[in-house]
Amino acid sequence: MKTLIAYSSKTGNTRRVGEAILKAFPQGEIKDIKDIDNLDYDLIIVGTWIDKGTADAKALKFIETIKEKRTAYFFTLGAFPNSNHANDCIKNIDKLFLDNKNTLIGNFHCQGAIDPKLISWMSELPAEHPHSPNKERVERWEEAAKHPDKKDFENAYNYFKNLV
Ligand SMILES: Cc1cc2nc3c(=O)[nH]c(=O)nc-3n(C[C@H](O)[C@H](O)[C@H](O)COP(=O)(O)O)c2cc1C
Repeated sequence: MKTLIAYSSKTGNTRRVGEAILKAFPQGEIKDIKDIDNLDYDLIIVGTWIDKGTADAKALKFIETIKEKRTAYFFTLGAFPNSNHANDCIKNIDKLFLDNKNTLIGNFHCQGAIDPKLISWMSELPAEHPHSPNKERVERWEEAAKHPDKKDFENAYNYFKNLV
């Protein structure tokens, strides 16, 4: 089965999860979205990082070009993987694929370390700002900083191995 893993990754989390998934596809290829010039594959798996509750701009643009294909996706995010926010991301990204009449066979996600530059910016925000640091938020940032970890890579690999 000719499989493409197409990722958009700013700081490497999503790319590394994609590399773990690649091991489940002996004939698979992995490419940065910017290097993709054709969609002639039996299965297209898109990897994205979450920006404002959905796929990042580069992945959004790429997904728009995928029509009537067999697809799956994965993402990394700063929020907890079992949060309402993560579920909302799934709903938002599902819709992108389904609106283009793609067959969606599955999705996977895990937490990913937040860019330290963003953390230092948020750390300086005034208390009334929705992203200002508080105990719960700082704990979440600290947890995210440990991901993706070995278990996440294993989970990603196993998820896709069992899917196909
Ligand atoms: C500008 C920016 C916006 C982000 N927005 C969100 C968000 O809305 N929700 C979330 O859970 N994580 C958010 N994150 C965290 C990233 O999705 C997360 O750290 C991801 O693992 C980064 O992946 P990458 O290393 O492949 O770039 C944001 C990060 C940045 C830099």
